[in-house]
Amino acid sequence: MSSFSIKSVYSICHILLTYLHILNSVADSTNRGTLEFSIGGGHGSHGNQSGGCIYKYCTPPLSFQLSPPPPPPPPSPPEPKAAPPPPPLPPGQNPLIFADQRLAMVYPIIQKFKSIITTDPLNITKSWVGSDICSYKGFYCENPPHNNTAIALASVDFNGFQLSAPTLDGFLDQLPDIALFHANSNNFTGTISPAISNLPYLYELDISNNKFSGSFPTAILNMDSLIFLDLRFNLFTGSVPPQIFTKNLDFLFINNNNFMQELPDNLGSTHILFLTLANNKFMGPIPHSISKALSTLTEVLFLNNMLSGCLPYELGFLKEAVVFDVGNNQLTGPIPFSLGCMEKVEQLNFAGNLFYGMVPEVVCELGNLVNLSLSDNYFAQVGPVCRDLIRRGVLDIGKNCVPDLPFQRSVADCVDFFEQPRFCPHIGSFFYVPCSLFP
Ligand SMILES: *[C@@H]1O[C@H](CO)[C@@H](O)[C@H](O)[C@H]1NC(C)=O
Ligand SMILES: *[C@@H]1O[C@H](CO)[C@@H](O)[C@H](O)[C@H]1NC(C)=O
Ligand SMILES: *[C@@H]1O[C@H](CO)[C@@H](O)[C@H](O)[C@H]1NC(C)=O
Ligand SMILES: *[C@@H]1O[C@H](CO)[C@@H](O)[C@H](O)[C@H]1NC(C)=O
Ligand SMILES: *[C@@H]1O[C@H](CO)[C@@H](O)[C@H](O)[C@H]1NC(C)=O
Repeated sequence: MSSFSIKSVYSICHILLTYLHILNSVADSTNRGTLEFSIGGGHGSHGNQSGGCIYKYCTPPLSFQLSPPPPPPPPSPPEPKAAPPPPPLPPGQNPLIFADQRLAMVYPIIQKFKSIITTDPLNITKSWVGSDICSYKGFYCENPPHNNTAIALASVDFNGFQLSAPTLDGFLDQLPDIALFHANSNNFTGTISPAISNLPYLYELDISNNKFSGSFPTAILNMDSLIFLDLRFNLFTGSVPPQIFTKNLDFLFINNNNFMQELPDNLGSTHILFLTLANNKFMGPIPHSISKALSTLTEVLFLNNMLSGCLPYELGFLKEAVVFDVGNNQLTGPIPFSLGCMEKVEQLNFAGNLFYGMVPEVVCELGNLVNLSLSDNYFAQVGPVCRDLIRRGVLDIGKNCVPDLPFQRSVADCVDFFEQPRFCPHIGSFFYVPCSLFP
């Protein structure tokens, strides 16, 4: 039994997670669901998993839902796992009896954390009394790996609890058996302790939609189990260590913080499936190396940053991409014809940049496209296939410079723009289509 290592269990869960999320993306593609889900904070709740399967996925791990803030519906109240007889002792009179030494160890940690909670409008912490930690609201127990007679605190799910506390230090980092930590939509502040790298089982960390600050928690680089990291909607600053892109993460959500840096060159080495950097201050060009991520990247959300330069034609190699969004940056140049190879793409957003030239017909021919947003740029030419998309409401090309279309920029505006000399390096590559379009 012990030969069934955590590692192999984890690879199974990779596949499950991937599969579930991709199913979701596909299901949501007809509306703007995919994108909004990814931008929003909040992650599916893990309280009750058909008998509890937190370390090992006996069932698909979660109904993978990334709901946008404001707070997701509060998780259903936890039901006691095994129904141990509630301790009839009035607190204080008898020593607490714990079902496992592991629970006795985390008891003072939880009580200490409880004592620093400053607001608790839903009265969650009222349930945090006595020795039955596994029935506290937000706390879930499970047999730890390699000992199926023991009981450990395996998961904490505070999603939507609206708790305020000045820090998680001394709490999260002191829960040695924790596998999942979800605290979406609370009011936690402070920085993330480097000591979290001592948590050997933690594979999902969601602290989105709080008020955490400081620099990117680099301790994460030392956490080999982590596959899901969600820091979005916080106040993190500084830069993201490039090594994060070569970690074994499947999900990296860091949108809506104040990260400021150029996109690192090793972005392309990523195994990440869902990469959400939106609403930060990422600068500079999208690296050519992104093509190396071709086998994995499914959603790329770079919108509302300060990216500049021309698009690398290598984007066309992102064959798995379903959503590609670089809206509201300062990107320029033509749209590479290679994007006609993104055969799975459903949402393409280039709105609010400085793109110009003609809209490639091969892009408008993409079979799965439901929303091609090019508004607020300087495109000047649109062919018949693209015009058909305009009629069908798929392509929005308002506020550009196409002479015979309505809702365009003023002539003066367009003339001003084109008076500046503009060029992209390797302009020939923009017309190169690195796939066979009619197989
Ligand atoms: C989990 O939830 C299901 C239904 O939602 C319920 O039947 C089951 O008893 C719960 N299990 C635990 C361990 O709470
Ligand atoms: C929380 O407890 C206070 C005081 O006992 C009570 O007034 C309030 O209604 C409770 N709130 C909720 C959401 O249960
Ligand atoms: C498993 O955990 C139980 C309860 O904590 C403990 O008594 C037992 O010694 C552990 N077994 C092993 C093999 O570590
Ligand atoms: C969050 O905490 C701050 C200070 O602790 C408080 O002023 C604010 O009202 C809290 N916000 C919410 C939504 O509870
Ligand atoms: C298409 O995408 C743009 C950019 O994200 C968005 O603003 C717009 O609402 C979308 N249109 C439709 C019809 O979903």
